[in-house]
Amino acid sequence: MKRGLYIHIPFCKQKCNYCDFASYAGQESQLDAYLGALAHEAVLYKEIGCRTLYVGGGTPSLLAEHQLRRLAKIIRKNFKEIAQFDESTLEANPESLTPAKIQTLRELGFNRLSIGLQSFNDSELKTLGRVHNAAQFTAAYQAAREGGFTNINVDLIAGLPGQSLESFLGSLRHLVALRPEHISVYGLQIEEGTPFFKQGVVCDDALMRRMLEETRACLTQAGYHHYEISNFALPGYEAQHNTNYWQNGEYLGLGCAAASYRCGVRRQNTANVEDYIFDMENGKTPIVFSERLTGPAQEGESLLLALRQLDGVEPTAGQMQLFGPAIEKHIQNGLLTRVDKKIKLSEEGLYLASEVMRSFVAPFDEEACK
Ligand SMILES: C[S@@+](CC[C@H](N)C(=O)[O-])C[C@H]1O[C@@H](n2cnc3c(N)ncnc32)[C@H](O)[C@@H]1O
Ligand code: SF4
Repeated sequence: MKRGLYIHIPFCKQKCNYCDFASYAGQESQLDAYLGALAHEAVLYKEIGCRTLYVGGGTPSLLAEHQLRRLAKIIRKNFKEIAQFDESTLEANPESLTPAKIQTLRELGFNRLSIGLQSFNDSELKTLGRVHNAAQFTAAYQAAREGGFTNINVDLIAGLPGQSLESFLGSLRHLVALRPEHISVYGLQIEEGTPFFKQGVVCDDALMRRMLEETRACLTQAGYHHYEISNFALPGYEAQHNTNYWQNGEYLGLGCAAASYRCGVRRQNTANVEDYIFDMENGKTPIVFSERLTGPAQEGESLLLALRQLDGVEPTAGQMQLFGPAIEKHIQNGLLTRVDKKIKLSEEGLYLASEVMRSFVAPFDEEACK
């Protein structure tokens, strides 16, 4: 079973202007209690087999060295040594990824880092509300290399307010010159409730599309494999933990707001840090949402996840029965292509993926889904 283990660390030094992840600024004083709560939750799933580990956030690199060691102990006691996972990633922000933490992370067995850069332009970073500047990213990246990390992902965002195509490509080229093994490029999403949303920031869809087209051309030319809508890897460095999500694999999520998918049931923990700590200290469940995916909902979900991968997917007989007409419609309108028995996003479909995916999410289009 290719199950993944995800651990959420919901603390950040400062909240970025675009972010709607479950992450909170100024609550670091709760970190020790939070780790205690994680220890309680992990016991509930003791010895469940997991192949990959992803410690995400929030900002996991905010943890001090002794807290990283405590987290490793929780993982070791209930699952296995971090070094025994096929892939073990920690998400890091440049300003808190110090040489001493890098050394600790290597000692603990982490073999992959995912660093959020977003842009190499300091004024764009300021607009985003990032704590770091470009020089701090470069220093952290070099320290990670010197510290022995040979598998590093870096995140960029395209379509920032006021960002020109030239400025975005400048960031991308600067990053490619560093040769990280993996690059994720996301188009900026304006999420409800964020400062960007409240300020009325709007995306220039045409410009964003140019940026994403140029990203694909530039990274492919530089030897990166475009294997998922937003993800590029040097051959052999495709993210194993995330690939398991796209292949509809199981995952166990621990911590505040963490989601799990096991035995066809999707569950989500409370996104409130205090509630999570209170529940775990008092033997209550932190799960606030649970649903069993069955029938069209399950078939649609696994199809849309698989279609995020550029290789595409061979639909099952059940999926063809449910979604054959919708698939046909997208082949006709040029967003999907058929290659042998597989279907996959076309070049055009890559940039209009949400339109395709909508066909596989309830409520289903009566016309297209019979
Ligand atoms: C879990 S998040 C944050 C990880 C880490 N705390 C950081 O900020 O680097 C992972 C990535 O999602 C992307 N992201 C988050 N919010 C986004 C948004 N509203 N639009 C586009 N990309 C976003 C960013 O590139 C970010 O690095
Ligand atoms: S983008 Fe990252 S650092 Fe910024 S608030 Fe979200 S989780 Fe925290």
